[in-house]
Amino acid sequence: MKKTLIVYGTRWGTAAEIAEEIARVIKEEGIDVDLVDAKKIKHYDVSPYDLVVIGSGIKMGKWTKKSLNFLKDNKSALKDKKVALFVSCGAANEEKSVAEGWEKYLKDVAAEYLEDDPVDMGLYGSVYDPEANYGLLYKITSRFMKKELEEKGLDPNKRHDYRDWDEIRSWALGLANSLKE
Ligand SMILES: Cc1cc2nc3c(=O)[nH]c(=O)nc-3n(C[C@H](O)[C@H](O)[C@H](O)COP(=O)(O)O)c2cc1C
Repeated sequence: MKKTLIVYGTRWGTAAEIAEEIARVIKEEGIDVDLVDAKKIKHYDVSPYDLVVIGSGIKMGKWTKKSLNFLKDNKSALKDKKVALFVSCGAANEEKSVAEGWEKYLKDVAAEYLEDDPVDMGLYGSVYDPEANYGLLYKITSRFMKKELEEKGLDPNKRHDYRDWDEIRSWALGLANSLKE
């Protein structure tokens, strides 16, 4: 049976939920999946896997330290594998910042941390939650999002999930299919 490893870095759970959905879709295709929080690992043996998916949420332009450590530690081990990268970030929420998100959070990371090109990359949105209480930095960021929602005539008192779940599912399905070729 083909095997996939999914490693994610998350600060507020947004990328974790994306990783879970990717895992669910790939499993449904009859592929074995291990889903791992980068925080919980020191060293991970990637040798049994045909595909390794690594993703992270972005804070101040950065992946989580542990998810980057995973990439660093496994640079040569990942060389002969199919590797896919994804991020969850505010840049994906707005058309005007999508290209910059791709460049900074995916292409630059792939160029720095992978020896070969990834088989695929995915840039996914974030969640606006007026009820969330994650401290000052989160609050300040939410204020910007609130303003953008108001400018668009959308209700800032409601939670907005900018993640395109259909796009995420079809991305995961594409990865699963690439293992069947
Ligand atoms: C303090 C803070 C800083 C952030 N910095 C960025 C950023 O530099 N670029 C960006 O596109 N999104 C940024 N975001 C949005 C996050 O990337 C987004 O909320 C993402 O879904 C978080 O994923 P996680 O919950 O898995 O960590 C920031 C959010 C917060 C709260």
